[in-house]
Amino acid sequence: MPDAGQPDAGQPSAGRPNADQPGYRLYRELAGWWPLISPPHQYAQEATYLAAVLSSTAAVPVHEVLDLGSGGGHVAAHLKDRFDLTLVDISADMLAVSRRLNPECRHLRGDMRTARLARTFDAVLAHDAVDYITGHDDLARVIETAFAHCWPGGIAVFVPDYVKDDFREFTGAGGGTDAAGRRASFTERTWDPDPSDDWVQAEYEFTLRGADGAVEVIRETHRLGAFGRDAWLRVLAGAGFVPGSGLAGRALPGRAPDHLFIGHRPVQPGPGTTPPAA
Ligand SMILES: C[S@@+](CC[C@H](N)C(=O)[O-])C[C@H]1O[C@@H](n2cnc3c(N)ncnc32)[C@H](O)[C@@H]1O
Repeated sequence: MPDAGQPDAGQPSAGRPNADQPGYRLYRELAGWWPLISPPHQYAQEATYLAAVLSSTAAVPVHEVLDLGSGGGHVAAHLKDRFDLTLVDISADMLAVSRRLNPECRHLRGDMRTARLARTFDAVLAHDAVDYITGHDDLARVIETAFAHCWPGGIAVFVPDYVKDDFREFTGAGGGTDAAGRRASFTERTWDPDPSDDWVQAEYEFTLRGADGAVEVIRETHRLGAFGRDAWLRVLAGAGFVPGSGLAGRALPGRAPDHLFIGHRPVQPGPGTTPPAA
């Protein structure tokens, strides 16, 4: 599919990026380093699993998929052969990175809390970008966005990195190189300053070495959501989804993510359920 580029005035909009978006440098001026910091091949196993979930869990055949918070398109790169993907991200810089990797996918700039594309999809996916949702009201808005874009019988799949119930402080590291001779590495420490709230804090240190050998070290603190499982299930149900994995006892290919929440959009609307946005 040709790249739709930024939505034109008068065309369906993915919603206006919200002015209170934290605007982490990683997803703005450092976006060009994303393929080295978190290389696409690292997503292959999890994407294989997600592809199996998408194709085997909904009540309808899944072909068209909306990816909310698609970032550099590293998950999408492993899904695009099997699904027709529409990729939405709040960052124009990250969309530019993804367009280079996934020129055949439709890209739209938008906020997963407010995006309204005036159409529905067989499935909606919000991978690790949903980590950037740190409050209950915003989580409800994201799930409403997913519901509004989900065809009856379709599913929404959410893959948060952190859930309050089993959060443990951890440290990690990673990185990569590119053909131009650039090298990126990072360390991270993710901890919970206050277990009574719904977010944790990731302290990153990025070491970026340009092709000319110039080195820059950047430290950035990110606030990431860590809601309880009950909260996820409650908000899914509140939006009109039937929460549940439907995966019990099933062996799927690839690697299962640590956390996965699935909302099934009923074929028949329940009492009080909002009709599709399209
Ligand atoms: C960790 S990256 C996602 C990486 C992605 N899974 C990939 O395959 O490359 C997080 C992304 O979430 C996006 N993001 C954060 N808040 C958002 C929001 N409210 N709406 C849409 N995108 C958002 C950021 O711009 C960033 O691109």
